[in-house]
Amino acid sequence: MKRILVTGGCGFIGSNFIKHIIDQGNFVCNLDNLTYAGNLENLSDIAGKRNYKFVKGDICDHKTVRKTLADHKIDTIINFAAESHVDRSILGPEIFTRTNVLGTQVLLDISRELWKKNSFKGNKFIQVSTDEVYGSLGKIGKFREDTPLTANSPYSASKASADLLVMAYNHTFDYPAVISRCSNNYGPYQFPEKFIPLMIINALSGKRLPVYGDGLNVRDWLHVEDHCSAIATILKKGKIGEVYNIGGNNEWKNIDVVKAILRYLDQPVSILEYVTDRLGHDRRYAMDAKKITRELGWRPKHKFENGLKDTIKWYLDNEDWWKKIISGEYKNYYKKMYKGR
Ligand code: NAD
Ligand code: TYD
Repeated sequence: MKRILVTGGCGFIGSNFIKHIIDQGNFVCNLDNLTYAGNLENLSDIAGKRNYKFVKGDICDHKTVRKTLADHKIDTIINFAAESHVDRSILGPEIFTRTNVLGTQVLLDISRELWKKNSFKGNKFIQVSTDEVYGSLGKIGKFREDTPLTANSPYSASKASADLLVMAYNHTFDYPAVISRCSNNYGPYQFPEKFIPLMIINALSGKRLPVYGDGLNVRDWLHVEDHCSAIATILKKGKIGEVYNIGGNNEWKNIDVVKAILRYLDQPVSILEYVTDRLGHDRRYAMDAKKITRELGWRPKHKFENGLKDTIKWYLDNEDWWKKIISGEYKNYYKKMYKGR
């Protein structure tokens, strides 16, 4: 039985991941400081389980991290906690460096101090990273694990910095780390600021659908459950010191995703609106994820067309969840980001 610390477990991917592994015979402690993106409701189904514990706390806080690791005899850390939205990183980069870089360093330092007494036997740290650390692609080619890091936004720069720290700790201290780098996720419980839920919710609320620039930017979409199964595979079989790309081999132009959403919702294309582009907007992401398939046997299960339909249905069936969110702090963010654009 593993004793796992999941950080950022109240966010989109972290909460899906905890539900994915909670019945696989492990103890899971979820450390999350409940920023605007953290929502305890995402885990209400499993909150009472005996092998689950929630701790409200900040990954940048040494005392909290030390106490959590020690109290729960944690042997494995999966670091999801992050500021995760590119647009917010353009509005205010500082918190991205604090959480994503410093927070990762605190987790590395405290766990190293506790785990080295036992020469890291049975320990593993998984850094949940992103394809965005590789920068942007032209029309051809894909990111491989050995593609040089070229971050373009404050968000991706902070994630790339954290990846460099993780690799440095592995190299210098033999620290037992693995990095996963995944493409864009979609699925239930994604915060409405992100592209797919934003478009679904705007279409359901009679608002315009704001497409940045010419709408021809490309993302490689993967269902969140496939990301979760990939991380569970890395947890079991991933080799220390390695990087694993995770992707869906599923490239879509933004405009085509919006049109697909409108088709499923039976809404006219006339409600989409081209708006001023995002600053420094990366043109194309695409993952070469052959290594994780070849070496660990993982492959995605969800087909995008079905996964998108199910996701739209989830947002239709869970209005209470997103209505609470869009009436809170998010309202101010939306005004700031989209007014006059
Ligand atoms: P999210 O924004 O939905 O959730 C982030 C969670 O981290 C929230 O629950 C928040 O409260 C928590 N958190 C933030 N700062 C914290 C701190 N200082 N201490 C403790 N908890 C803190 O993000 P997500 O989309 O679920 O992404 C999770 C991870 O996966 C991130 O590291 C992100 O970079 C990575 N990732 C995301 C995607 C994607 O498409 N969403 C793709 C690849 C990788
Ligand atoms: P996003 O979900 O923010 O993910 P990322 O930028 O990390 O890939 O955005 C996905 C794509 O959708 C990206 O090319 C930007 C674009 N986009 C829009 O066109 N309009 C929007 O309102 C948002 C939030 C994103």
